[in-house]
Amino acid sequence: MSTVQVPEIKKGLEGVYFTVSNVSAINGQEGRLVYRGIPIEALAEHSSFEETSFLLIEGRLPRRDELETFVQTLRRNMDVPGQVIDALKKLPRSTHPMDALRFGVSALVGFDAEVMDPREGLALMGKDEEARRAYWEKGKRMGIRLIAKFPTLVAAWHRIRQGLPVVDPLPDLSHAGNFLYMMFGEKPTPTAERVMDVALILHAAHGMNASTFTAIVIASTAVDMYSAIAGAIGALKGPLHGGANQLVLAQLREIQARGGVSRVEEWLEELLSRKGRVMGFGHRVYKAYDPRARILKKWAGELAKEKERELYEIAVKLEEINIQKLGEKGIFPNVDFYSGLVYGALGIPTEFFTPIFAVARVSGWVADVLEYWKENRLIRPRAWYSDQVWDRPYVPIDER
Ligand code: SDX
Repeated sequence: MSTVQVPEIKKGLEGVYFTVSNVSAINGQEGRLVYRGIPIEALAEHSSFEETSFLLIEGRLPRRDELETFVQTLRRNMDVPGQVIDALKKLPRSTHPMDALRFGVSALVGFDAEVMDPREGLALMGKDEEARRAYWEKGKRMGIRLIAKFPTLVAAWHRIRQGLPVVDPLPDLSHAGNFLYMMFGEKPTPTAERVMDVALILHAAHGMNASTFTAIVIASTAVDMYSAIAGAIGALKGPLHGGANQLVLAQLREIQARGGVSRVEEWLEELLSRKGRVMGFGHRVYKAYDPRARILKKWAGELAKEKERELYEIAVKLEEINIQKLGEKGIFPNVDFYSGLVYGALGIPTEFFTPIFAVARVSGWVADVLEYWKENRLIRPRAWYSDQVWDRPYVPIDER
């Protein structure tokens, strides 16, 4: 057998570029993030989640009339069919909110009149421009319906697992405001609504992160938007990805239980000595401070004035010492480090931190899938067959 050339393996696809995308971009060395070229700081300061979702999907900021139409379309589609709510009620109350969300998205498919015959997706590969456009537009409408329904599904599960009545959205509240209203059954304060809106903006998109990549891999098979989004929810749940935010709070509470700020260094040294990881720190692309963490830290400090002041002080101390120890390895706070403190201050249970991430990131998933569909190609990489055995004998079971 001729000697085979072993290919270079890029574990975790680190540094691999598999497509062109302009939905969002990260400069990891300088700690910069843009959505369609606009810096995240400007969007957090001036935009709304609705306007940011339009920007991600359409590639430009909406005119006033366009934004109003988009907001109304979201509002009109926030309701979830009663049968889906009834199906959620049949789940064990211990079901993790991310699993309930994924269940809800899968259940929604049957109620969406536009979910097409599986063959329709082949239009993406065809020469018929009309059919391609029709499929793409249908996928966009499904995506917008999902963006509208995510807050309703997440909030419904919060109510159902407490044995409380599900709260319907109100026509005059923002996306963020309605989410909080449906979670708690009362209109949020202007500050709470603003904080949630900023958090949703900050979490909406982030280059080719694992859950966005998952959505695209699934969508590349020319399947419907629901299948792509359901898979992305599974990826986001992982503690190395969106699941980290709820674990950050657990680590801060662990330090608090040990005695607080004075015990941070000892706790960190113990963790690092057993190769543990500080949740909310480190990033595959950022080797500088995550710009989203900087904004969330400000809000966490604002909100800490009333509640959980000590946890915020522990977080600030942990950040300071962690950067001393790991900064030269390019390990800095990421978006998850302060988000949990913000959500905790809003009264959100920790198990709902990652679903909030999903309520925001669904806009990025939809935008990135729609962009990829414009020049769709099935994603199918290779794995290197290191054994290189091609004629191993089949041994009968009695001779093994
Ligand atoms: C998100 O991709 C995205 O954009 C994701 C996201 C988005 O918006 O979509 O930004 C959101 O998921 C943020 C990340 C949330 N996850 C966490 O906070 C979990 C803790 N972080 C890590 O596990 C880690 O930093 C990752 C998973 C985020 C990135 O890991 P990599 O790039 O695969 O790096 P690695 O695991 O190979 O670690 C490299 C080195 C290792 O040390 P050595 O073996 O080389 O000695 O850095 C160390 C790691 O031990 N390291 C850490 C650390 N993260 C990496 N050490 C301590 N604490 C950490 N948090």
